[in-house]
Amino acid sequence: MTAIDTKIRTLDTGEKIATNDPGEFLKAKRLPIHTATGDLSVGPIGHLAQERRRLDNLTWDNFEVTRYGATIGAELHGIDLRVDLSDDVIAEIHQALLDYKVLFFRDQPITSAQHVAFAKRFGDLEIHPFIPGNEDLPELVRFEKSADVAGYENGWHSDVTWRECPSKGAVLHAIQVPPTGGDTLFCDMYAAYEGLSEELKERIETMVAVHDYSQAFGHQLDEEAQKEMRIKYPMVEHPVVRTHHETGRKLLYVNHFFVSHLKDLSPEESDMLMEKLCRQATILEYQCRFRWTPDSVVFWDNRAVQHYAASDYWPDVRIMERASIIGERPY
Ligand code: SIN
Repeated sequence: MTAIDTKIRTLDTGEKIATNDPGEFLKAKRLPIHTATGDLSVGPIGHLAQERRRLDNLTWDNFEVTRYGATIGAELHGIDLRVDLSDDVIAEIHQALLDYKVLFFRDQPITSAQHVAFAKRFGDLEIHPFIPGNEDLPELVRFEKSADVAGYENGWHSDVTWRECPSKGAVLHAIQVPPTGGDTLFCDMYAAYEGLSEELKERIETMVAVHDYSQAFGHQLDEEAQKEMRIKYPMVEHPVVRTHHETGRKLLYVNHFFVSHLKDLSPEESDMLMEKLCRQATILEYQCRFRWTPDSVVFWDNRAVQHYAASDYWPDVRIMERASIIGERPY
């Protein structure tokens, strides 16, 4: 990197002070910072600008929005999820989901039946085989955390990528929230893909990842149950770079929760590449963070984002219910 033409001037007090901001010449570049792994740099993440501007220009007929992250997340105002919304409103919410990738709704005291009814407007719902459901409505997965049941969803992942057809969206309703903590973070996986070097993009273009439910859910099953579930849910292969079925955009589609390895690589190569790829989700500029309040509802595009439920509230109680909409086979 060429040196910045910064002058050092001397104040009346004798203190030395630079004439230029150190970021002045970084508009289109990043500054590498020395670390053991050599992959830290600071400076603008310029590739976000185009999508951010696109989102700046969107307007909606049926709701107002408050944006959260640069390219991800919007709170929708003026929608009541308890009522049977018109097809027009549902179509606009669907479009907003594709654009903002995750939608937030506050103060929505919906019943479980209303929750299911809203989610069903976007497709059929799946039943999760490894997490208990709502007693009356098994389409709702229930996360009921307390001093005895720990939150362990605190790793970056998309849901159920171990399925042949992972869910395309999820609607999560907060029934009880802890006084502090328990936020959910979301990462824009289009931005994560676009932030890779051209060389790395080329390397992973046709690569395949093997997904396995037992990585995160195997520990709770005895040998017999594991055998039965393995027959029902064999390991599945999905592309590392997925094309979104509706937007046509490419996104990074690997996560540590469910990917056991990258196909046709040695275990060492696979581990190293997975580390590099999964680290993309941890880049703060690609993320937004949601602070729950009771009866908030969050709707995410499970293809376009990964999420991370902060597990910082134990031993307090946090109760959520989630409906997941059946998706397509990734390509
Ligand atoms: C999950 O779907 O991983 C749970 C998210 C949450 O509880 O915030």
